[in-house]
Amino acid sequence: MTQSASPSLTPSSLTPSSSGRVVAIASGKGGVGKTWFAITLAHALARQGRRVLLFDGDLGLANVDIQLGLMPALDLGSVIAGRASLAEATLHHADGDFGIVVGRSGSGALSTLDPAVLERVLEALRAAAGKHDLVLLDLGAGLDRSVRRMAAWADELLVLATEEPTSLTDAYAVLKLHAADRGADRGVGAASVVVNQAASRPGGERTYATLARACATFLGHAPPLLGVVRRDERVRDAIRRQTLLLTRHPACAAAQDVEAAARALLG
Ligand SMILES: Nc1ncnc2c1ncn2[C@@H]1O[C@H](COP(=O)(O)OP(=O)(O)OP(=O)(O)O)[C@@H](O)[C@H]1O
Ligand SMILES: [Mg+2]
Repeated sequence: MTQSASPSLTPSSLTPSSSGRVVAIASGKGGVGKTWFAITLAHALARQGRRVLLFDGDLGLANVDIQLGLMPALDLGSVIAGRASLAEATLHHADGDFGIVVGRSGSGALSTLDPAVLERVLEALRAAAGKHDLVLLDLGAGLDRSVRRMAAWADELLVLATEEPTSLTDAYAVLKLHAADRGADRGVGAASVVVNQAASRPGGERTYATLARACATFLGHAPPLLGVVRRDERVRDAIRRQTLLLTRHPACAAAQDVEAAARALLG
């Protein structure tokens, strides 16, 4: 059973498959656009016919629900408290046509999650991944134990950076720790970069080149660029209205860029 949290949400229909690919989205630095990008990428992938589950992995400061205006009865907190299974806490976003497991904002219990409990959640998420084509994991800012564990556990990592130097140094730190956490064989090769809020595509590509040079020099491997997403006022408008960008402004620059990133992710 899945829940329906508002008139725009209908029960999820999940068909079994073993293809689930888990992609985590991290940045180190806060506020670069991880949550918005994860939501919009989930929508873009669903529009390209994929069965997508978006998991709010920002355990202490979850806000997928806030950006989308959801108030579900069940969330990740209910799963952790043993009141619901992950499937029961999964919403189906009718407009976006993707599943969502929301977190619980401000939950101290989730931000200091026992490692054994986190492992149980990840096990359940792996089982859910088998019923989807892709699972997107929106991670919190910083590099605490849970963020590092979830990034290393995922099949792939997307590191979001902006043109700000502090974002670049933080993105580099994420990539460096990710390589260490995964070991040489599964290291930075499993990561790619998205430059968000770029003033222009060439500007975003230059930002990527700076990060790639540092990675090549100090880590011995440069992660590929998945895409550049331009800064676009319509992103703020969609978030303010708690709607999906690809529904509200489907032809705007940022919408086109996220759809291109989704195509690149699908190879
Ligand atoms: N491409 C873009 N163009 C314009 N504004 C953007 C873009 N991407 C993100 N933003 C702005 O950045 C803000 C922060 O986005 P978001 O909350 O998704 O970041 P975050 O990285 O998830 O933050 P946190 O680290 O706190 O979880 C948004 O409210 C939005 O205003
Ligand atoms: Mg966020």
